[in-house]
Amino acid sequence: MAEHSIIIDTDPGIDDAMAIFYALASPEIEVLGLTTVFGNVDVDLATENALRLVEIAGRSDVPVARGAARSLTVPFPGGVEFVHGADGQGNASLAPPRGAPSTRRATELIIDTVMSRPGEVTLVTLGPLTNVALALIERPEIASSVRGVIAMGGNVHVGGNASTAAEANILNDPEAADIVFSAPWPVTICGLDVTHRILMTPDDLERAYRVDSPVGRHLARIVPFYHAFYEKHVGSNGIYVHDSTTISYLLHPDAFVTESHRLLVDTGSGVGRGKTWPVATRDEAGRVAGSVTRPEITVCVDADARRVVEAEIAALERAADS
Ligand code: BDR
Ligand code: CA
Repeated sequence: MAEHSIIIDTDPGIDDAMAIFYALASPEIEVLGLTTVFGNVDVDLATENALRLVEIAGRSDVPVARGAARSLTVPFPGGVEFVHGADGQGNASLAPPRGAPSTRRATELIIDTVMSRPGEVTLVTLGPLTNVALALIERPEIASSVRGVIAMGGNVHVGGNASTAAEANILNDPEAADIVFSAPWPVTICGLDVTHRILMTPDDLERAYRVDSPVGRHLARIVPFYHAFYEKHVGSNGIYVHDSTTISYLLHPDAFVTESHRLLVDTGSGVGRGKTWPVATRDEAGRVAGSVTRPEITVCVDADARRVVEAEIAALERAADS
């Protein structure tokens, strides 16, 4: 039996594709479904891409359920084609998927799956937290039935990437993130504090592109677009594998350094919108500074970057050989 049973909530997205392939290549993980959300692209395209990705990985048996088309408060502002391509997959001119989405909505798939397997299911989120917040609103009991939530999102001690203050997934729906971060369930975030410390270098990427499988060939088609964005606009020698970091944490928590914080999300309309603030319950002199009742969240702040990058590529290689 697999050690982890997960639902992946996603807005694919090139780094989403990498994370999904990593999870599907890992025998320790049972992927129970993908749920889609607006973000890098609109939700229809996100759903088509999710279907394409499970088909490329030879896993059409994994259900794909369509989710939120917009955040809790504002219409979809448009995707980020300069990062992921207009199609969310590096402008790779992909064939349409053969399969169709599930007849269930994303929230239904999340609620049904979590409630039918109490204590077993981990929600791994790679996009805005809208679907998860809506599922919590519809069925608050999922908080005590879930095994955990691991979210790519947020920035606690560092600046943002979608604005000076905020990380993209949280900025896309700060109200949803605040609901998820204040619910009574175990949440871990893999935000920019850690993902900006994990670089997949050009040599690593060449190795991933040589993986002799449809997955390796798909990565070779799409990731160069994302890599070019990073080289041109971020100036990094390689890419940040934001979304895969959730899967790395799931499989190798001992490779990570974590802190524990109660987090508030800035839901105002100023420059700080979307920032994830650690709330100090005591001031510098140790005096009680406020009463915050929300639960503590595990915040990943550093990792053995070489170990987790190596583990991700090795998982793809092993899956291709098996
Ligand atoms: C996050 O934003 C998206 O563009 C990526 O897919 C990732 O989930 C990084 O901030
Ligand atoms: Ca994503």
